[in-house]
Amino acid sequence: MQDYKSIFLEYLSDAIMDYGSSNEPENLYHPIEYILKLGGKRIRPILTLMSCDLFGGDIHEALPAASTIEMFHNFTLIHDDIMDNADLRRGSQTVHSKWNENIGILSGDALMILSYKMLEIYDGEMLKKIFSIFNQTALQICEGQQYDIDFETRIDVTLEEYLKMIGYKTAVLLACSLQMGAIISKTNQINLDQIYNFGFNLGIAFQLQDDYLDAFGSENFGKKLGGDILENKKTFLYIKTINLASSIDRKELLKLYQEKKISEDKIVKVTSLFIKYDIPDLLLHEIEKYTLKAFENIDKLSISKSKKDQFIQFGKSLMLRKK
Ligand code: IPE
Ligand code: IPE
Ligand code: MG
Ligand code: MG
Ligand code: MG
Repeated sequence: MQDYKSIFLEYLSDAIMDYGSSNEPENLYHPIEYILKLGGKRIRPILTLMSCDLFGGDIHEALPAASTIEMFHNFTLIHDDIMDNADLRRGSQTVHSKWNENIGILSGDALMILSYKMLEIYDGEMLKKIFSIFNQTALQICEGQQYDIDFETRIDVTLEEYLKMIGYKTAVLLACSLQMGAIISKTNQINLDQIYNFGFNLGIAFQLQDDYLDAFGSENFGKKLGGDILENKKTFLYIKTINLASSIDRKELLKLYQEKKISEDKIVKVTSLFIKYDIPDLLLHEIEKYTLKAFENIDKLSISKSKKDQFIQFGKSLMLRKK
C-alpha cells in the first residue's frame, strides 16, 4: 500500500506555506497554520487518496481534493471547540483558548474558504460532481452540529435521533472523502454509491468510538476526558443508560445532566452509572456492528479482492484506535 499519509503531508505543507503565518493579518493566518500543523490522524485525506488509487486513478490528481477535505475538517474543529467549550485539541490548546473566540470564528471562516479554494484546480464535469457532493456534505455537517447543540438542552433524545445527528455531523464527511477520490478516478456509478455507503457506515462507527473514547479513553486521547459529560451531550452512552437504568438511577442521571459546570465529580458519577449498566460494552458492540455493515458495502465494489482488502484493513485499524 502507498504511504498516503506522507504524500498528503508533503502536499499540505506546501499549501500551508502559501496560507501560513507569513501572511497578514497574522491573527487570521497564524491560527490556521497552528491547527493544520497540530497533527491529527489525517484519516479523511488518506481515504480520498486511497479511494482514488484503488479505483485506478492518479493520486496526485486527488491531492487538492484531499486537502480540501482536511482543511474543511480543521475549520469545523475550530468552530466545534468554541461551541463545545473545549480547551484541549490534539493534546494542545484549542484555537479560541490560545487566542480568543473572535479569532477562532474568523480564522475558521478563512480556513473554510481556503478549503474551497483548493478545488479551483478542477474543471468540467469532474468539478461539478466534486462541488455537488461537497456542498451537500458541508450543509449536512452544519445540520448535524445544530442538532448536537439542540440536544444538549433536551432530555428526550432518542437513539434514532442521535444516529441521525452523528450521520450528519461526522459520517457524511468520511463518505464524501471517499467519494471525491472515486470521482477523480472516474470509476463507475456503482462504485461511487457503494464507497459512499462504506464511508457513511464507517463514519457512524467512528463517531460512536469518539463518544466512547471521550468517556473511557486514555490520557493520550488529546481531548479533555469527560468533555461530553460536562457539556450534557446526548451520546449513545447517555441515551442507553437512561433507557436501561432503574428509576432511581435514571433520576440521578437526569439531575446530573441539568448541571453545566466544570466538575470532575460529575464525570465520576456519570461514568460509574454508564459502567453499572454495562453500556460501554454495548457501545463497543455497536461500533463493531457498523464496521461490519461498512464491509458489506465493500463486498459490492467492482474491484479486485486485494483492493477490497485494503479498505477492510483500514476499517479494522480504525476500531483499534486510541485517539
Ligand atoms: C474529530 O475527528 C472530530 C470527529 C468527527 C470525531 P478526528 O478524530 O479525525 O480528529 P483528528 O483530525 O484526527 O484530530
Ligand atoms: C465533532 O463532534 C463533529 C464536527 C466537528 C463536525 P465532536 O464534538 O464529538 O468532536 P470532538 O470530540 O470535539 O473532536
Ligand atoms: Mg467537540
Ligand atoms: Mg461537537
Ligand atoms: Mg467527541
